Amino acid sequence: PEHVDGDLEQILLTEEQIQDKLAELAAAIERDYDGKDLLLVGVLKGAIMVMADLSRHLSRHVEQDWMAISSYGSGTRSSGVVRIVKDLDTDITDRHVLVVEDIIDTGLTLSWLVSNLRSRGPASVEVCTLLRKPEAAKTAVDVRYVGYDIPNAFVVGYGLDYAERYRNLRVVGTLAPHVYS
Ligand code: PRP
Ligand code: MN
Ligand code: MG
Repeated sequence: PEHVDGDLEQILLTEEQIQDKLAELAAAIERDYDGKDLLLVGVLKGAIMVMADLSRHLSRHVEQDWMAISSYGSGTRSSGVVRIVKDLDTDITDRHVLVVEDIIDTGLTLSWLVSNLRSRGPASVEVCTLLRKPEAAKTAVDVRYVGYDIPNAFVVGYGLDYAERYRNLRVVGTLAPHVYS
């Protein structure tokens, strides 16, 4: 029957490109946080794959927590007004926090999230994202770790969805036109 890979028009990033980059980012993170405790905060649901693989490229101790956030209605996404659906279980006061994301598109989600986390009195808040779309940016987010800058096209796979599907792809790619129709 229908195979999920068949819905892709073009593969943007292979499994190997993704894993090599995450290993590189993990090495930088290990250097930068040497001697410090570290809490990784994944943003549900897109960040699940990045969190799983990035954290397994780390050989040091690390804690993992999750947040689920939602913008007020799909049409107002660009407003950057965000609601917390699931908050952290962890008190981040005096903690070093690294937010883990799959993609920064307009940057509005993350800029809201980072200022929300900063208001809780952490020792530091930085961001790690596998993908970033520079051409789509509506606000500047200070991102310490970026995997790949990609063109402003709709991409799926490796956590990224279209109508909740395609998150389970091992690659990142663009969807074929027949999928939309
Ligand atoms: C996607 C993606 C980022 C966010 C980026 O999440 O995973 O979290 O959008 O967009 P922005 O930079 O324009 O704010 P989405 O809201 O689709 O939820 P999901 O992770 O559950 O798919
Ligand atoms: Mn997301
Ligand atoms: Mg999504």
